[in-house]
Amino acid sequence: MFRTNTCGELRLADAGKQTTLAGWVQRVRKMGGMTFLDLRDRYGITQIVFDNERNSALNDAANHLGREFVVQVKGTVAERTSKNPNMPTGDIEIIADELRILNSSEVPPFTIEDESDGGDDIRMRYRYLDLRRTPVRRNLELRHRMTMAVRKYLDSKGFLEIETPMLVGSTPEGARDFVVPSRMNPGQFYALPQSPQTLKQLLMVSGMDRYFQIVKCFRDEDLRADRQPEFTQIDCEMSFVEQNDIIELFEGMAKYLFKEIRGIELTEPFLRMTWADAMKYYGSDKPDMRFGMRFVELMDVLKGHGFSVFDNAAYIGGINAKGAAHYTRKQLDQLTEFVKRSQIGAKGLVYARVEENGNVKSSVDKFYSQEVLQELRKAMDAEPGDLILIMSGDDAMRTRKQLCELRLEMGRQLGLRDKDKFACLWVVDFPMFEWSDEEQRLMAMHHPFTHPKDEDIPMLDTDPAAVRADAYDMVINGVEVGGGSIRIHDSELQAKMFEILGFTPEKAQEQFGFLMNAFKFGAPPHGGLAYGLDRWVSLFAGLDSIRDCIAFPKNNSGRDVMLDAPAALDQKQLDELNLAVLEPKK
Ligand code: AMO
Repeated sequence: MFRTNTCGELRLADAGKQTTLAGWVQRVRKMGGMTFLDLRDRYGITQIVFDNERNSALNDAANHLGREFVVQVKGTVAERTSKNPNMPTGDIEIIADELRILNSSEVPPFTIEDESDGGDDIRMRYRYLDLRRTPVRRNLELRHRMTMAVRKYLDSKGFLEIETPMLVGSTPEGARDFVVPSRMNPGQFYALPQSPQTLKQLLMVSGMDRYFQIVKCFRDEDLRADRQPEFTQIDCEMSFVEQNDIIELFEGMAKYLFKEIRGIELTEPFLRMTWADAMKYYGSDKPDMRFGMRFVELMDVLKGHGFSVFDNAAYIGGINAKGAAHYTRKQLDQLTEFVKRSQIGAKGLVYARVEENGNVKSSVDKFYSQEVLQELRKAMDAEPGDLILIMSGDDAMRTRKQLCELRLEMGRQLGLRDKDKFACLWVVDFPMFEWSDEEQRLMAMHHPFTHPKDEDIPMLDTDPAAVRADAYDMVINGVEVGGGSIRIHDSELQAKMFEILGFTPEKAQEQFGFLMNAFKFGAPPHGGLAYGLDRWVSLFAGLDSIRDCIAFPKNNSGRDVMLDAPAALDQKQLDELNLAVLEPKK
């Protein structure tokens, strides 16, 4: 046995006990005739003391230990004279009698402490060392507790955990696939699943009734802080349910997770908002509801007063940044620069301050009388000390999205996006389709298996763009943490959907025949949802990127810099797979 205790568990009550610990050398300090060693394992840090007078050879050996050496120490637990209140084990130390070096270590490329001196790149390359750091390890511990809690909750509700294959067929209508060549079927490829969507639906046709899986999904899309090319879903499907049944069950799960993982009791039902309202009032299908600053449309108030920017606009909207009238000219100029940045692309920003006496002072005063500005103030429900920010544009949706960025930025600047505050929201009634300029056709907004809202079905023939879907997303603090829908379970309706999406009947049969045929054999009504596990964990851990809660993540270019993947294949392997590689396009 290498140890009788862990470094994190010994306390004052253990004083006088013999113990054996094993772990990594975090740090060695020499003070006079004593050597102090901080020994670390997954559970914590314990101070080990070597005393020259007690055993000079042992003290000498301790002095030669380097950072990250793996050692075993035997000794006696003793009360510490200078206690460290910041450490759970700060009351005690171990007076060492024996030291065994289990392995040496090269000098690590960065310090393995809570605050590391290593940059992102080097820590990714040596991810296994980064994972030794307590804050990083804690994220994985939280992730573990999440998955355990998820399994417990879903098991208690009668869900079966069923695995589905990772080598599946490529399907259109989603992100790009990652594909895998098949040696046994030359010239043919598997795809890694973007989600087990159709498979879980087939499990419903099989009568499994309630399915879940904590499952890897793969999507070849551009990466962002909340996107990885391989990520994990808590994927669920249920039979004989309507939208409300699913929402209630998974809201219950969200509340259970908040309680179990963060100790937060959410008693109120989550807010529900239609997609149309989310876009109208927040310019986003995932509004951050930790704060207000709801958009107010100002066309009636501000149009027609000679200010050509507004007079020619298709949309004018404002937000009220409460208490921000103190913003200086410089700060306002910076905000203007912010909205003009290429990612946002707005032309400008108009502002109006409500002064202490109630007067409104705006950046476009020469076009507006105080009377009109007071109307503005009323529309914006603004009080003395408030700052009104206004944007306009010739495309209403685009302008709302720009105003959304400004709202989020103001929320950030005014400290309204507190990571320890949580605002949960269901966004419902998404449009069924969205127009793709690139493809010049309608695309499914959620996916092509989503059921339209019953009352909108007649419009599939007359005005498909107006059809709403029986789909819902869960949004927490502006992050889409999950989404799902009621599915089509009728092969004819499914065929119609593919027709609207521009598939010929032959193409639909070729790509999705397996599903449409299955629906001919008694498919039950069904629906489901998938939560993004990585996003949930990051939210609970207060992380800025989901990367930090994944043991071995990819970087922004989709590379695993530790494994140096992806990489070229050697010719033998290419030949075996019947593949030829072209020169990469410049
Ligand atoms: P959707 O595509 O909305 O739905 O995905 C479900 C949830 O998965 C998370 N997610 C991601 N997390 C990290 N990196 C990514 N690249 C990424 N993409 C998605 C999000 C998202 O809400 N089959 C459907 C679900 C269903 O209808 O049941 C699906 O995959 O949190």
